[in-house]
Formats: sequence, structure tokens, C-alpha cells
Amino acid sequence: MQNNIYKLTDPQGKISEFPLREGTFGPGTLDIGSLYRDLDVFTFDPGFVSTASCESKVTYIDGDKGVLLYRGYPVEQLAERSSFLEVAYLILYGELPIRSQLDSFVNTIRHHSLVNEAILRFFTGFHYDAHPMAMMAAVVGSLSAFYHDSTDIHNPRHREVFAHRIISKMPTLAAAVYKHGIGQPFVYPKNDLDYCANFLNMLFSVPAEPYQVDSVAAKALDLLFILHADHEQNASTSTVRLAGSSGTNPYAAIAAGIATLWGPAHGGANEAVLNMLREIGDVKNIDKVIAKAKDKNSGFRLMGFGHRVYKNYDPRAKIIRATCHKVLQKLGRDDDPQLELALRLEEIALKDDYFIEKKLYPNVDFYSGIIYRALGIPAHMMTVMFAVARTVGWVAHWQEMIADPHMKIGRPRQLYTGSPKREYLDIGKRK
Ligand code: ACO
Repeated sequence: MQNNIYKLTDPQGKISEFPLREGTFGPGTLDIGSLYRDLDVFTFDPGFVSTASCESKVTYIDGDKGVLLYRGYPVEQLAERSSFLEVAYLILYGELPIRSQLDSFVNTIRHHSLVNEAILRFFTGFHYDAHPMAMMAAVVGSLSAFYHDSTDIHNPRHREVFAHRIISKMPTLAAAVYKHGIGQPFVYPKNDLDYCANFLNMLFSVPAEPYQVDSVAAKALDLLFILHADHEQNASTSTVRLAGSSGTNPYAAIAAGIATLWGPAHGGANEAVLNMLREIGDVKNIDKVIAKAKDKNSGFRLMGFGHRVYKNYDPRAKIIRATCHKVLQKLGRDDDPQLELALRLEEIALKDDYFIEKKLYPNVDFYSGIIYRALGIPAHMMTVMFAVARTVGWVAHWQEMIADPHMKIGRPRQLYTGSPKREYLDIGKRK
């Protein structure tokens, strides 16, 4: 290395030089864009273990120290002192709003909450037992069939209107997904309620009864949404960027992100954690489960544990863990045996050599499901809740990418190990 230039020499003596790019924090990043041109080779990094896929100013994670910053602000401070829509503004626009900016943003988000009636009719095509994430991916994707007046992705104002619309409509669609599954009528948004209270009202009120949103529940939901709002280049965000890089309709790109979030290795883990805790059932079965998680032949992993980036306690899990007891107590649900089970499971796992050596700690999904459950949200709806909050991050990353004048379509290379070239044989001549 010389003056922050790394050099690679191939067996014929040809040289390629890679400048080391330094970010605000974190490891330097080698710019290998010239490698193929200079040496006629690709790099191989399945799962992007050592590869930065983009430059970004939105979120920073220090996985070794357990640090998470949105636009430079520690998530702990935002969780304690901010609100979901203020955090959404920060993530989207890069700065905390002054009062008039926040008021105007909140007002705008409030007033985009209705969805076209035609979208609500799509639900009749789904069985009552369709998975909520299947419905969510489909109806969000279907938004791309509307709003032709404002989806010129090269127009910054169109991009902003898209951002407001999708953030505002996600709770309406998520609540419709839930209502469809339980056979209750859809509840329309009430724009005099704030974001999370409105969402809870659409989820749990019915036309036949008066319903009062519990302010403790709304506050707890707001906290979970702050913690789920963004997490830099995770699988679903990278999917939104990749889909969006082709210039596709942004609602379609968000639908791709929802599909990716669904998987149990990503956002689907919150549902999987609750299912796992239900199956464990009792503290006396924990040792067996830990042994199974350590057995490579079992194909089982401790859900809600481990993370590609965090090799320390996930700061979001720390906040949720600390809040869990308080919230459950305020909601009168502090007798939840799953919380005790989860705490005990964590305690045992964190003392186990396997988890210590591999630096496997609880992630955000380990405790979030317990709060969602206390709010009355069933396990199969939990990844939908995550998707509503993460939409803010998806949109911010999509915006950042589209606004970049150097944006290129995402198009990875491959190491081909298939058959060499061969000749087509007529069917009668094949063995
Ligand atoms: N239980 C048991 N062993 C585990 C676990 C776990 N939860 N997580 C990782 N390991 C082991 C792996 O078997 C592997 O062991 P090895 O080195 O002996 O082969 C080692 O730890 C490293 O694991 P990888 O799979 O290589 O790590 P990766 O970064 O690819 O995966 C992931 C991260 C997918 C989150 C993984 O830890 C996992 O499957 N966890 C459970 C699912 C989960 O909770 N996902 C939510 C993540 S947070 C989010 O997306 C919102």
C-alpha cells in the first residue's frame, strides 16, 4: 500500500491500483471499480460479507461496539426523546426538523392516508388464511398501477410525493390485511389521530363498538417503529436499491423489499421467535433447545439471535429488553410467561461457549414480538408491523440512490461453474 493506494499484481506482472476510500467512520473501502478493466478478473464475495454495495449518508452501524446512528444521532437518544414521524423526517431529509417543518410533515403524512377503493377490492381475491406478508407485498406492489401523475423518478418533487404517500398508506394497508384475515370490515383512517394511534384504531376498532386507543400502546408502537425505521444496507433495503436501480416504479421496488423482509433470516424472525418460544413452552426445555441450536445437523437456529453486522448486543434489542417489563406492566400484561422464558433463554445462551465464541447476541427481533403481542398483534402480523416502520428506510435509500448522478443499474457478476459449450442434440439422439 502507498498513500492509501492498494496494488494488486497478476501473475503476468500487470498491476491494478485501488484507492482506499475513507468514510466518516468504519473500515476503509477499496474502490475496485478498475479491477476487471485492468486485470480481467472479478471479485467473489457471496452474501456481500466484505463488499460495500454503495456509498450512503443515512445510517451507520458499528457492529463490534453495538452502535446504531440515524443521520449521526444515536438510536438510544431518538428512542428516548423523539417520535417516529420526527425520526422519519430525519431519515428522509437528513436533519432534525424545526417545529414548522415537523408540523407540515406530520400534516402531509396524515392527509395521504386513504387508499383508492379499488385497492381494497383486491382483498376479495385472497383467502382468509393468506399470509399477511403475501397480501402486503401484493397490495403495495399494486400501488404502482395508480398515481401515474407523480411517478417520474427523475423529478425530485414526484419522489417526495411518493415518499409521503407510501409512508402514509402503509398503516392503512397493513390494517386492511389484518382485518381481511379475521373477517372484519376495513376501518378507514381517522386523520385527527396521530400515526400510531390511527394505525391501532384501524387494526382494532369495529363499527359496532366504541373504541378508545390506549395511549400507552400507541407510545410503545411508536418506540418499536423508531427502532425498526432503518438499518443501512440489510437484505430488504439492498433489494429495494437493486430493484429501484433499473428505474422501476418505486411502489414495485418497495414490494420487492417487503418480499425480502418476510424471510425468517431477516424480518420474519420476530414471528419465528414467538413460534419458537411457544414450542419451548417451559424453562425446563431450554437446555434441549440450546443443544439443538448448536447441532449443525439439526438445521435449527436460535431465532432472534445472531446478526451479520452486530458482534455485540444489538442496541435495539437492549432498548426493547429494558422497555419490555415497563410496557407490559402498563398494559396489564406483565404476567406474560413468554417474557420470562425469553429472559431465561437469553441468560443461558449468553453464558454458553458456542454463543460466546461466535459472538451471537439477541437481535432486535428477540424481544420486539413480546411487545407486539402485548399490543394484541398476532405473530403472523409482526413482520407486517416491521415493514410499516422500515418503509421509511427503504424510501430514504431509494431516494439517495436515484438522486445520485452516478447511479448505475445494479448488476453483479458471477463465477460460472456450469457445463462448457455443447451442441444441441435432437430428442431421439439423447441418451
Ligand atoms: N443459532 C445458532 N447458531 C447460529 C445462529 C443462531 N441464531 N446464528 C448464527 N449461528 C452460527 C452459524 O451456524 C455459524 O456457525 P459456523 O461458523 O460454525 O458455521 C456462525 O454462527 C455464523 O453464522 P452465519 O450464518 O455465517 O452468519 P450470517 O451473518 O450469515 O447470518 C443471521 C446472520 C442470518 C442473522 C443468523 O445469525 C441467523 O440465522 N439468525 C437467526 C435468524 C434471525 O434472528 N434473524 C434476524 C436477524 S435481524 C434482522 O434481520 C431484522
